[in-house]
Amino acid sequence: MPQREFKAVILAAGKGTRLKSELPKVLHPLFGKPLLMRVLDTLGGLQAAEACVIIGHGREQVTQALAAYEADYTIQTVVQEPQLGTGHALLQVRQKLADWQNFTGDVLILSGDVPLLTVETLATLLETHQGTQNDLTVLVATMDNPFGYGRVITEGHTVLRVVEQKDASEAEKQVQTINTGVYCLNWAKISPLLEQLSSDNAQGEFYLTDVIALAVQAGYRVGLSHLDDPDEVLGVNARTDLAQCHAVLNERTLNRLMAEGVTVLHPASTFIAPEVRIGADSTVLPGCYLQGDITIGKRCMIGPHTTMSGVVEIADDVKILQSVVRDSRIGAFTNVGPFAQLRDGVEISHHVNIGNFVEVKKTRIDHHTNAAHLAYLGDAELGTDVNIGAGTITANYDPVRDIKERTIIADGAKVGSNSVLVAPVSVGENASVAAGSVITKDVKPWNLAIARGRQVEINGWVKRAKGITEVTS
Ligand code: UD1
Ligand code: CA
Repeated sequence: MPQREFKAVILAAGKGTRLKSELPKVLHPLFGKPLLMRVLDTLGGLQAAEACVIIGHGREQVTQALAAYEADYTIQTVVQEPQLGTGHALLQVRQKLADWQNFTGDVLILSGDVPLLTVETLATLLETHQGTQNDLTVLVATMDNPFGYGRVITEGHTVLRVVEQKDASEAEKQVQTINTGVYCLNWAKISPLLEQLSSDNAQGEFYLTDVIALAVQAGYRVGLSHLDDPDEVLGVNARTDLAQCHAVLNERTLNRLMAEGVTVLHPASTFIAPEVRIGADSTVLPGCYLQGDITIGKRCMIGPHTTMSGVVEIADDVKILQSVVRDSRIGAFTNVGPFAQLRDGVEISHHVNIGNFVEVKKTRIDHHTNAAHLAYLGDAELGTDVNIGAGTITANYDPVRDIKERTIIADGAKVGSNSVLVAPVSVGENASVAAGSVITKDVKPWNLAIARGRQVEINGWVKRAKGITEVTS
């Protein structure tokens, strides 16, 4: 951990023109979470005293997203308007934040569009910077295809400057050491140099990268910190980068899960967000997409083709086949699917069976209960040992008052196939509902409720209708 106090600045004011989007670039999701929040999450692993996010383009949306974000360090924002480049962005901190003016520690500079950096990398950068007593340390990587990145120009071991792709000469474009856009700097020494930047370059912007040459000229100690895995510095500038970031983060997550004892049968078709936790000896089959605050127990079998999102908690020994689960909890030894949907606050206990084409919404189901085929259970409460026949519907919606009503089905109750339970309604303990009933009144315990037309037979009706005269029976 760093010896000197440090603060962080995250550059997040740019428009992200190349994404061609109405959404500010830093709010584009990476496995469901905005790029900026992924960067803030990483920063959370270090002990920053404070972070300052530079906002500009789409700042109302970015401010809103930041307000909802919980961090255990102070986050403040500074507006950059207009956005005249990365150097101009950092200059805003110097000019607008009074309490930074006398800050004598180091400042870690990150970009809101570089989301894959690890805590370890940033910790190494800080250690290198502080250990070598640099005034400015640039995090660099070596890339086979450095196109688009700023190139780090050195002479022997001495850093001279960084040149942007658009300003680079043919010879400079051959340089494979790139600027990751992540820096650590002695604020008191380096930040005054921001006042000297000019916009005399191909993009007409005030480049933060020009501070490197200025620092060298001023005689400050400028050094590099090398990153082994160039995937970490992938920046999101276009949609293709977003796809690549997903691929890299996914691979990282799947490798972690496999190391933790999870079988991932076909990584190429399996997508799992980094926050997902899965117990050992569970298997994730092809075609799964798990994104959100998801915990899955041991010895579970998930997939193929299963989607999970929101807050999902799954106990041990659960099987979920070809299904969709959102914001739900599932107990041990429960089977779900194929083709089931559980959503919006479902709570299922252990040893439950939710079969094909069953939709369950905001419903609690106690242990050893079955809804094996073709049903809708919404806003309901099911006890233990309940059986729901095929085609049962809880009619929860009152269209006149535009509200949802509840259905209670007590322990041991059996609901016959193709029944409609019109809420609010309850079926008592061990009661039975005859198949095809439309239940509008509460059913008492142990009773049988039949609510359908009685069967009537008319002798010889078909023959008469067809004009056949000799009626024998
Ligand atoms: C920048 C670096 C480049 C480096 C690359 C690594 C400069 C001039 N170049 O290029 O050397 O290889 O990152 O990813 O710094 N931003 C603002 N205000 C502005 C402009 C940008 O806040 O006026 C923010 C953006 O929102 C973004 C970050 O700064 O989060 C980087 O800006 P971007 O335009 O993406 O720079 P690159 O061209 O990627
Ligand atoms: Ca960028």
